[in-house]
Amino acid sequence: LRDWCDQLRATDPVHRDERGVWHLFRHADVSAALADAATFSSETSAFLPAAAEGDAFRVANLTRMDPPRHRAMRGLVSTAFTPRLVSGLAPRISALTSELLDALAEASRLELVDALTYPLPVIVISELLGVPTEDRGTFRDWVDVLLSLNVDRDNLAASQQAVRSVAPTRAALIDYLRGQVDRRRVDPGEDLISALLAAEADGARLTEGEIVGLAATLLIAGHITTTGLLGNAMLLFDQHPEVVARLRDNRELLPSAIEEVLRVRPPFSLTMRATTREVELGGRTLPANQLVFLWLLSANRDETVFAEPDRFDLDRRNSHQLAFGRGIHFCLGAPLARLEARIALDLLLDRYAEFRVATDEPVEFYNPLVVNGPKRLPLLVTPA
Ligand code: HEM
Repeated sequence: LRDWCDQLRATDPVHRDERGVWHLFRHADVSAALADAATFSSETSAFLPAAAEGDAFRVANLTRMDPPRHRAMRGLVSTAFTPRLVSGLAPRISALTSELLDALAEASRLELVDALTYPLPVIVISELLGVPTEDRGTFRDWVDVLLSLNVDRDNLAASQQAVRSVAPTRAALIDYLRGQVDRRRVDPGEDLISALLAAEADGARLTEGEIVGLAATLLIAGHITTTGLLGNAMLLFDQHPEVVARLRDNRELLPSAIEEVLRVRPPFSLTMRATTREVELGGRTLPANQLVFLWLLSANRDETVFAEPDRFDLDRRNSHQLAFGRGIHFCLGAPLARLEARIALDLLLDRYAEFRVATDEPVEFYNPLVVNGPKRLPLLVTPA
């Protein structure tokens, strides 16, 4: 995927494929499209196989909404999901990471996804939403099914079939969340679902369907991406022992290291938009109503912005990596993802004098078009 992006960025940076989908590879073009929500609409459902009518994911998927509805809904979510709420989670994230690592005792071999990178984000987001963390095994099964959905644009009939086949899983997750919302309506707590129930902006409130949809979006967007980020960090640390050596001496460099991990291996390789009108970009004219793939992976490797893009550079000055997007849809969970990564990586450096990716077992990956990151990551470790 990476070589394909590099090649097209060099030879045909605003590319139209044989199916008629447009692809943007340069940092400038991807940024411009993200910044212009009026021309590049997030409402792309017309191009994708249809989910069931009234499906809660479609009712309130913030990422796939345009202004003015997006502005109103994001405003309501932001009143509940504040930077203060996120920074207040630091002690809890540290305690959870410690507990998960304690469970490994003095093991010299571990599978990091099961041990840490999957459970940590899912427990944090479940606690934040106020859904019982004991149910996380069930979420994992549901989310695995939903993420296994591989939409094949060449074969829309097969894709429709695939979408139908996950419908019961979507319905189960939605029913479950509806039950959680009802529980919080009667018995509010300090959690995000209770805050969403209470949130009010300009006299507007969220409907139950919207809260269920938002909770589903947060649950899904909020954990598997962070699993990807943590696993990608360990993969890159394995390839760059000099970086790990500097981090061991100076933990203040962790935020820069995390930005480089996000740049080099963004958990989302791409996002999508649909043109609302004819538009000029990179010397080409895109007609109205076209599906456009914005390659975040490629933008983050654009050599005109990031000199020697393959170099993992803790001292890179510019921070214009696009792993969290840009503009009005900029990732709402970015502060939380950065905080979880900083705490987890800091504790891994404390606990282990050395860690290496095992070579006698394969590292397995999620489908990189869905989440770019390891699904199984065997590590050999030396406890400190
Ligand atoms: C939006 C990436 C973690 C919630 C986005 C977008 C990207 C992204 C690229 C923009 C999509 C677009 O413009 O089409 C990531 C990455 C993460 C991460 C790489 C982890 C490393 C999280 C977490 C949460 C979250 C932890 C929630 C707790 C959201 C939400 C949106 C969003 C709600 C939609 C915002 C909007 O449309 O206004 N994320 N995300 N994300 N993210 Fe994240």
